[in-house]
Amino acid sequence: MTTATNRVKIFDTTLRDGEQSPGATMTHDEKLEIAELLDLMGVDIIEAGFPIASEGDFRAVSEIAQRSKNASICGLARANYKDIDRCWEAVKHAAKPRIHTFIGTSPLHRAIPNLSQDEMAERIHDTVTHARNLCEDVQWSPMDATRTEWDYLCRVIEIAIKAGATTINIPDTVGYTAPRESADLIRRLIETVPGADEIIFATHCHNDLGMATANSLAAVEGGARQIECTINGLGERAGNTALEEVVMALKVRHDIMPFTTGVDTTKIMNISRRVASASGFNVQYNKAIVGKNAFAHESGIHQDGMLKNAETFEIMRPADVGLAGTSLPLGKHSGRAALRAKLNDIGYEVGDNELMDIFVRFKELADRKKEVYDEDIVALVQAGAPAS
Ligand code: KIV
Ligand code: ZN
Repeated sequence: MTTATNRVKIFDTTLRDGEQSPGATMTHDEKLEIAELLDLMGVDIIEAGFPIASEGDFRAVSEIAQRSKNASICGLARANYKDIDRCWEAVKHAAKPRIHTFIGTSPLHRAIPNLSQDEMAERIHDTVTHARNLCEDVQWSPMDATRTEWDYLCRVIEIAIKAGATTINIPDTVGYTAPRESADLIRRLIETVPGADEIIFATHCHNDLGMATANSLAAVEGGARQIECTINGLGERAGNTALEEVVMALKVRHDIMPFTTGVDTTKIMNISRRVASASGFNVQYNKAIVGKNAFAHESGIHQDGMLKNAETFEIMRPADVGLAGTSLPLGKHSGRAALRAKLNDIGYEVGDNELMDIFVRFKELADRKKEVYDEDIVALVQAGAPAS
């Protein structure tokens, strides 16, 4: 039974769904490098691309498949034999290959190929069977699952399981779900669909309403044992579930979410920076876990607290995500404790009166400047020193 384990697989799709974000295209070498970092950090499955999409995607997926040491390497394929065959050609040399095939099952998506429910059901049966004849590890996704009629969703999932799918992914393609629904949906599917307890359910959330992380964690509570996510939450529109957020949430709140992943969290910052530079998508300053300000404190009360006990304002240690340390940038909200700490840091021991004097001039400067740098502090000290 899949829910008997508390180990949650991390399926990274930075190189597929992440790269589908308009403007995020990466070069071949960048993709290989990111795949290597993902493999080393311990993700379970790397969705390396969409092999039929272009010659370049095919080459990237097949090279990643040949190089990867630990993770399963997965390619995406629509529900047709040509896509699936091309996908298999790309992933087949991996130590652990996976084919991921999908079709849009909601009424809106069924209308596009103009298939009836029965015709689509037959297509799912045939294409999953075909994929399974090629590869032992087959993932199937009913795209827009969260807007698919309940009875039809159960029906097509059962067909995919019987045809040999080993993972059923439940995409919230347009980020429409709310956390309680996300948990209930997976729980009810596991209870209802025959054969559901033989396979793994995955959750694949988009962030249109800013709920992708919450929805993914709720799905795990409902019984999902694979989270699909991307580094920095890169992805179409408002992005996908951010890998760093779900992995750190499961680590930090293990007390109420007793699930584990295989990710070495100390590698998070490095890969976050690499994905930001390769995709050209800068990380917002206040982004959870990897934003520039995620471990920075400017206000006097916070800095004073941090200097006395880091747990006052930090629930994770910077080292846990691969950061050297907390930063206490000096600005107009900073207090004397942080100024003294900075002075000591850059080699000045000052008495209380001198500190007060520098502090007054520091505040004047901080009112004019967003951030006060070490050089500014040195200048303030020197300007106050008696002329020799
Ligand atoms: O969001 C989505 O539905 C997808 C599928 C291809 C799994 O990315
Ligand atoms: Zn997606």
